[in-house]
Formats: sequence, structure tokens, C-alpha cells
Amino acid sequence: MRTIIPPIKSQGIKTKLVPWINDVILRSGIDISKANWIEPFFGTGVVGLNSQLKGKFIVGDTNPHIINFYNGILSEGITPTKMRAYLERESKLLSTAEEDGYAYYREVKNRFNNSHNPFDFIFLSRAGFNGMMRFNRKGEWNIPFCKKPNRFSPAYITKICNQVSSVQQIIKSKDWEFKNQGFIETIKRAKEGDLIYCNPPYFGRFVDYYNGWTETDERNLFNALSETKAFFILSTWHHNEFRANEMIDNYWNSFNILTQEHFYHSGGHIENRHSIIEALVFNFELSDIVPTKIQRPIQYDLFANQSRDVCPSIATH
Ligand SMILES: C[S@@+](CC[C@H](N)C(=O)[O-])C[C@H]1O[C@@H](n2cnc3c(N)ncnc32)[C@H](O)[C@@H]1O
Repeated sequence: MRTIIPPIKSQGIKTKLVPWINDVILRSGIDISKANWIEPFFGTGVVGLNSQLKGKFIVGDTNPHIINFYNGILSEGITPTKMRAYLERESKLLSTAEEDGYAYYREVKNRFNNSHNPFDFIFLSRAGFNGMMRFNRKGEWNIPFCKKPNRFSPAYITKICNQVSSVQQIIKSKDWEFKNQGFIETIKRAKEGDLIYCNPPYFGRFVDYYNGWTETDERNLFNALSETKAFFILSTWHHNEFRANEMIDNYWNSFNILTQEHFYHSGGHIENRHSIIEALVFNFELSDIVPTKIQRPIQYDLFANQSRDVCPSIATH
């Protein structure tokens, strides 16, 4: 199945892990026709947006800009048409600005840091260096310009608007709730039979205003997930060529763990641009067989159980 890519970019985006996570869910025994999706660290949203669960989607993040953006989609304050009009206007201003566009990037950055406009959030996310998202100690956007004044070419604008459109369709087709809140509040919403998917900031790695993560946070998450009656999957890092994630031994080893190698292409620090062994930690057993009820829809034969003579308009073509 094609993975839907959201319009928000971030160095920690889990796009490449989506098929793996979905496969684990399909082998979990969770009743996907009923289970609610609970995601306390929503980030760009790529994992939840590609989830096949059919229940309610309750997601949270402490980053208000992410939640504002998705609430904008929900309320239709943000639509593909509005995004196109915005980007076409901004594209002209960027391409003709002084300092090879940097002067205008700075203007949008200052504007966003004052007004928190979700359209400006997408502009910065797409025109910032290396698709990174980082906020300084005052909670202000803190990524330099990608140095491409013609960043918003017609093809790139169409790509972003198509992403907005895909996300809009998914959000309209299910029941979504987006909350600007800490992970404990979101986890509390999970009931027996639901699935909590957690991808917290990685302990000992990337940190910014919305991604500070201490051992106390990890312990609180461990306690909340140990107590829940819901299913959970935690994405974390297992080790890289430099060191191991000590949180695995300290907390997560009592659950089931699968690992897979993953390569991160962006990140300010060299350690963040190497391959890493990603881990999925979960509190259920895996079956080897994907249940038949979630396999592809059957293509029904129009003539099944019928004599072909009784339907002449079809039978005589
Ligand atoms: C690693 S990112 C999630 C990435 C996401 N899975 C994706 O693929 O885009 C972690 C997210 O957790 C959020 N976050 C950090 N601390 C949090 C907390 N205490 N409670 C809730 N969200 C938090 C950050 O703002 C960030 O968006």
C-alpha cells in the first residue's frame, strides 16, 4: 500500500518505518475494525495517517504548531485550494527577495514567531534547511533557509497541495481529535482493545524546545505503558555504531522487541546522520499469519451464482 506523506517535514519522520509498523499491527490480534488509535507523540503525523484502524483517532503533541495545522485541516481553515493560493503568492515574494531569498525567509520566520500562522509553518517547514524542524529556547522557529529562492516551483507547490489533499481525505474519512497536550493525558484516553503508538523524542539524541526528553520522561512513559490495558507499540532506537540506548536495558527489555536498520539523512550532528538500529517495543504476541479479514477487497464476479443468459445486456457485449 502507498504511504501517504504529510506536508510537514521533520528530521525524525518515520515514513520508512510505516510498512513495518503496520505489519506488526496486522499480526497483533488487535480488532482493527473497532480499535481506537491513540498517538501521544504525533509529530508530522505520518504513522497515524497511514494506520488502518477503523476506530477513533485521538492524537496529541506538545508542539502547538503541529496540532494547529491538523486542526486547521479539520475545520477546513486549511484546504488544498487555500494552500495553493498562499504558496503561489509567497513563491513570488521569495524568488524576488534580496539576499537570494533569505530576506523574505527571515520575514516569514519573524511573522510566524509572532502570529503562529499554520500556512507560514508549512512555508518554513518546506523552505528550511534539509527539511528540519527545530525551535529555540523561546519556542521560536530556528532553522536557516535552504538557500533556494525558487524553492516553491509550480511542481513543488502541486506536490505540497496534493499532500494536503491526501491528508484532508484521511481526516474527513475518520473521526479525529487533535490535542496540544503532554503524553500522559493522551495515554489516559486509551481503553482495553485500543492501540497506543508512541514515538517519543529519543533519549540522549536530538533535543529542542519541544523535544526535551529526560530519563524521568522515559520512566513516566514506561509506567504509563506498563499500566495500560490497551495494546501499545513504542518506536525507539536500539543502538548505533557508537553506543546503545541504555533505556532499553533500564526499562523496555521486559516487553517484546523487534529491530530494523534505518538510515537518517538529515540532522545537525554527525551521529544523527548515520544508520541506526530502530526498535519496536510492544506488549503483545505476534502471529505469523495476517488475518484474512484485512486482506485486499475481493473483486466479485458479476455472474457468480447466475446463469449468464439472465443478464443479456452484459452477456451479449
Ligand atoms: C520523534 S517525534 C514524533 C515523530 C513522528 N512519529 C513522525 O513520524 O513524524 C516526537 C514528537 O513528540 C513531541 N513531544 C515531545 N515531548 C512531548 C511530551 N512530553 N508529550 C507529548 N508530545 C511530546 C514532539 O513535539 C515531537 O513532535
